[in-house]
Amino acid sequence: TAVDPAWADEVRTLARKRDAVLLAHNYQLPEIQDIADHVGDSLALSRIAASSEASTIVFCGVHFMAETAKILAPDKTVLIPDARAGCSLADSITVEQLQEWKAEHPGAVVVSYVNTTAAVKAETDVCCTSSNAVEVVDSIPRDREVLFLPDQFLGAHVRRVLDRENMHVWAGECHVHAGINGRQLADQATAHPDADLFVHPECGCATSALYLAGTGAVPESQVKILSTGGMIDAARATGAKEVLVATEVGMLHQLRRAAPDIEFRAVNDRASCTYMKMITPEALLRSVRHGTDEVHVDPDLAARGRAAVQRMIEIGN
Ligand code: 13P
Ligand code: SF4
Repeated sequence: TAVDPAWADEVRTLARKRDAVLLAHNYQLPEIQDIADHVGDSLALSRIAASSEASTIVFCGVHFMAETAKILAPDKTVLIPDARAGCSLADSITVEQLQEWKAEHPGAVVVSYVNTTAAVKAETDVCCTSSNAVEVVDSIPRDREVLFLPDQFLGAHVRRVLDRENMHVWAGECHVHAGINGRQLADQATAHPDADLFVHPECGCATSALYLAGTGAVPESQVKILSTGGMIDAARATGAKEVLVATEVGMLHQLRRAAPDIEFRAVNDRASCTYMKMITPEALLRSVRHGTDEVHVDPDLAARGRAAVQRMIEIGN
């Protein structure tokens, strides 16, 4: 879809008037990515939100990302173009469930993926994203029990990398990534034997990717478990001509920009996040014109979650 230049001019002018910085996650629609001041993964965007000079942040992403920005920058106005943009993974644990889980494991350190509500973050010791989950868990003394939530596939990945048995993992999942399965990955890898595999750790097929490497079906050097930001760096560094991408399909746009000579193929081309796609060009224009939808986080919850989120942006920097 070609970007309408009148729309782009209007968005930029209105954003400037509001002293707003436009942030877009790698899963956003191409036209939203192209107009944003910064495009990146959850960790990179949180760091920009924390350090930006702008008085308003327009977060083109999902609600927990905008909430995280508000926790890090409580004095700024944080807008999300459509507040209905939720996340099935963040919805897979409630604060009451977390409180019960903690009561069953007194003294355990709670590590929450950034894909959680502000209320869950308020009950968390340290947050992480897929970019730094391994480093975050590794920063916890090995004799301490860990409760990792909510993503079971990312949790399993971290546990495997660190070989850590005293780490309990919540059984949540993202419906988009869980739907990218091992069969689809194996079929695509067979059809494209020289391709690199870039697999997001939230995928149901992350274990299958390592299995393919372990059995020699795909050379180990071609299999990479990466956050969306890690995929961009890996695309710039790889010598491969073809890459199979196991994550939400919005990712392909930034990958093709970063490495135009590589052929990128989605392992599952139906893996699209409807929440991410609620941030339409019309919604963004409305947002910068009317200052909608403003994100509020209860100041008490924000204060309780802030240290966990701050540790997250400091680890793995
Ligand atoms: P990252 O961009 O941190 O890899 O996160 C992926 C995701 O699913 C965000 O919703
Ligand atoms: Fe949430 Fe999954 Fe959508 Fe990411 S892709 S925002 S984890 S539902």
